[in-house]
Amino acid sequence: MTTTDLDDRRAETTAPIEELLAMRWSPRAFDPTAEVTDEQLTSLLEAARWAASAQNSQPARFIAGRRGTTTFDRIERHLMGFNRAWAPNASALVLAVVSTEDAEGRTLRWAEYDTGQAMANLAVQAHALGLHVHPMGGIEVAALQAEFDLPQQLVPITATAVGTIGDPVTLPERYRERETAPRTRRPLDELVLARD
Ligand SMILES: Cc1cc2nc3c(=O)[nH]c(=O)nc-3n(C[C@H](O)[C@H](O)[C@H](O)COP(=O)(O)O)c2cc1C
Repeated sequence: MTTTDLDDRRAETTAPIEELLAMRWSPRAFDPTAEVTDEQLTSLLEAARWAASAQNSQPARFIAGRRGTTTFDRIERHLMGFNRAWAPNASALVLAVVSTEDAEGRTLRWAEYDTGQAMANLAVQAHALGLHVHPMGGIEVAALQAEFDLPQQLVPITATAVGTIGDPVTLPERYRERETAPRTRRPLDELVLARD
């Protein structure tokens, strides 16, 4: 099996950043034979659990399934478009669900931000374990809500594929090239609106 040269995927930075952050990227070619252990999955969810959140409101919820399980299949069938072509090879799928209200029905204003933080924690933990993740916004939100019988204040926001890098040749050519193309970002100057 040929795999992507991971050094080619390293972020180019104008100042040093933590290695795990520099090496994180989102592959689509996952090894369909690789598995994550139950313990690894627990580590990922623990990392997510310990993310910061506004007033410690902890609005992120998770539905996680390893490949071969019913939960995996129930998430997978509601991925949209091309996501359904590559994500089934991942070792696990983690559906991130935002609790938009607290127990008293008050809107949690920073709930999406907090859930994003939780999933960022999960991504970094995955990389620390030698895994890769790929978040997907392309999911059928209403269908997933129905699939898992979620009340209206629990809203699926992303599904994240977790696994081991696979052979890009398994992807259609258009996506294969993206697997090895240089990674790009806007220049820092464009993002930082003010700085002293
Ligand atoms: C909230 C969110 C939604 C995304 N949705 C999709 C998706 O539906 N399908 C997909 O292939 N990639 C998706 N991505 C992956 C991004 O395209 C990817 O993170 C971005 O191009 C930067 O690449 P990198 O993660 O390799 O640095 C999503 C990423 C995020 C954070």
